[in-house]
Amino acid sequence: MSDPGRLRSKVVMVVGATSGIGRATALRLAAEGAVVVAAGRRTDLGEHLAAGIVADGGQALFVTCDATVEDDVARAVHAAVAEFGRLDGAVNNAGGVLASGPLEAVDAQAWRDELDVNLTSVFHGLKHQLPAIGAAGGGAVVNNASTAGVSAVPGLAAYTAAKHGVVGLTRSAALEWADRGVRVNALVTGNVDTPLYRRLLGASPEQPPSELDAPNPTGRVADPAEIAGLIAYLLSDEATFITGATMAIDGGATAQ
Ligand SMILES: NC(=O)c1ccc[n+]([C@@H]2O[C@H](COP(=O)([O-])OP(=O)(O)OC[C@H]3O[C@@H](n4cnc5c(N)ncnc54)[C@H](O)[C@@H]3O)[C@@H](O)[C@H]2O)c1
Repeated sequence: MSDPGRLRSKVVMVVGATSGIGRATALRLAAEGAVVVAAGRRTDLGEHLAAGIVADGGQALFVTCDATVEDDVARAVHAAVAEFGRLDGAVNNAGGVLASGPLEAVDAQAWRDELDVNLTSVFHGLKHQLPAIGAAGGGAVVNNASTAGVSAVPGLAAYTAAKHGVVGLTRSAALEWADRGVRVNALVTGNVDTPLYRRLLGASPEQPPSELDAPNPTGRVADPAEIAGLIAYLLSDEATFITGATMAIDGGATAQ
């Protein structure tokens, strides 16, 4: 259940906001009263998202941003502060599975690309978001890792290494910023019905969610809105003692 006042007037940046979990998060944060700065590569989708939030009475800005490019991320943080005067929170969500298959067959460039999109993107975010959030008096960041951040499956070595890196980076950032009022947490997300997950399964967009393979104890995929709900909570003032946490939202997958 979204709480329309919980994030009122907090300026929150979502990196990787144009699809799946990022898009659902931008909409949820706006529904809870946040001013949303959506950042991502796909300008048409991003502008459509921001326009939808504004049409519903919210406040939003889209900034075109490739999270693997530090200058782009720095520019997006700068745009948030220039437009709305502050930054109170951020969600680092950009990611994807680029290199799959046996480890010995992973091409060196594909390895670097995978780390860039899933791990270096989060480093870029934290490096520029943390000082801005600190300057606003404190706030919170959520990094979207994965069950691959704490466990492994064969054939996804680069993604797994990158997501384990996101967990370590989250803990480091949390420790460095705890006494300056910025909380940093990571999500161990699993089996969410998004374009990425459907691509991995080879499922079409038309296939009903109930037919999607979901190797977790609940036997079902999550709706992106379920992940967005936890992100909204972690960004809110209800979560003020949670930092450095690696929080599973995976239908019990990592409890096995
Ligand atoms: N869907 C799942 O089951 C699942 C499980 C675990 C973790 N995750 C993680 O959740 C996050 C979101 O994935 P999703 O499932 O919503 O997939 P998605 O493909 O729908 O969304 C990924 C988003 O990241 C953006 N993105 C990718 N590369 C980018 C870049 N270089 N710069 C800026 N934006 C970029 C895409 O444009 C898109 O908006 C990813 O980090 C993914 O690893 C997803």
